[in-house]
Amino acid sequence: MKKILRWLGIGFGSLIGLLIVALAVLYGMGQARLNKKYDVPVTMVSIPTDAESLAEGKRIFQYRGCEACHGEDLQGLVYLDNPAIGQVITPNLTSGKGGKGNQLTDEDLIRAIKHGIREDGTPLLFMPSTEFYFLSDKDLGNVLAYIKSMPPVDNEIAPSKLSTAGFIVMNVAKTISFLPAELIPHDQTPPPAPEPGVTAEYGAYLSQSCMVCHGPTYSGGKITGFPDEWPAAPNLTSGLGSRLPGWGEDGFITIMRTGENHGRKINPSYMPWTSYRHMSDDELKAVYTYLMSLPPKAFGNR
Ligand code: HEC
Ligand code: HEC
Repeated sequence: MKKILRWLGIGFGSLIGLLIVALAVLYGMGQARLNKKYDVPVTMVSIPTDAESLAEGKRIFQYRGCEACHGEDLQGLVYLDNPAIGQVITPNLTSGKGGKGNQLTDEDLIRAIKHGIREDGTPLLFMPSTEFYFLSDKDLGNVLAYIKSMPPVDNEIAPSKLSTAGFIVMNVAKTISFLPAELIPHDQTPPPAPEPGVTAEYGAYLSQSCMVCHGPTYSGGKITGFPDEWPAAPNLTSGLGSRLPGWGEDGFITIMRTGENHGRKINPSYMPWTSYRHMSDDELKAVYTYLMSLPPKAFGNR
């Protein structure tokens, strides 16, 4: 009996030993991914200064979701604070106290936005550049103009920091992309952006961000990697169980503008209509045209 217990003890001990080794390896892998240096040459764009382009830059900053994560005054905010991941904080992008406005060159800004890479070459946490890699030179130029035009805000804010668990979780939770830079083909030129217009192509250009929640085929379903209490994302194709064809273009635009669907309020912390409401009528029509052109899928067929 004693012998069996001793063997069990040794077995258990080695199991814990193995587990500690495995966690240490995962932690090290996380560190290596975070400290990896990317050498990405950037293509410069022209940066306008006229009022119309600045206003356009602001609107793009809003409907692409930048404002929701970076703050209305670009002052930076705590984007995520979770012991299992750590603290992810958007930097102060102005030239005020604690701001990076004077530090970041135009090249640094482009590298951050299109490639998800920090000025020292390391990857940014959770900055969704996979969506912005496709930005047209014109849209990018307007956004840069807007960022650079913002008045200084004093906000001394700590840099992002993963928790010890975060370094491990990032290697285990495959459905959460901690470092979007890892998913971007940095050495390839992105396809040319489509001309603005009420077309499915331009709608696709504007709908990059919807896929995060509505799925790569836009058919909705439970959102992987998000908290359990989140509602499922509805089907945005015209397939089985979709409400999209019934709304029609006008109904769709109303939902995206007001966040209200026949009296039901949609919570903007789940569905960020407060960003998308800044799209013009033609842009929302393009999005609708694109969604209606997608292969119909049944709900949740991600
Ligand atoms: C989902 C939230 C989110 C959205 C949307 C987003 N960002 Fe970020 N962004 C972040 C986070 C988080 C960081 C900081 C990451 C870190 O500290 O590692 C960041 C960092 C940056 C940086 C700083 C780079 C540096 O060197 O410090 C710039 C510039 C930036 N974002 C611009 C933009 C622009 C422009 C847009 C819209 C086109 C945008 N972001 C959209 C979350 C977001
Ligand atoms: C961060 C996640 C997220 C993103 C990004 C997102 N959605 Fe949603 N969306 C949701 C969730 C979750 C719901 C369901 C909300 C609810 O039921 O209260 C929803 C609901 C909707 C609805 C209302 C459907 C209904 O039946 O009432 C429409 C329309 C919609 N989304 C379109 C879009 C479009 C178009 C985009 C991109 C331009 C987009 N969403 C981006 C999460 C998201």
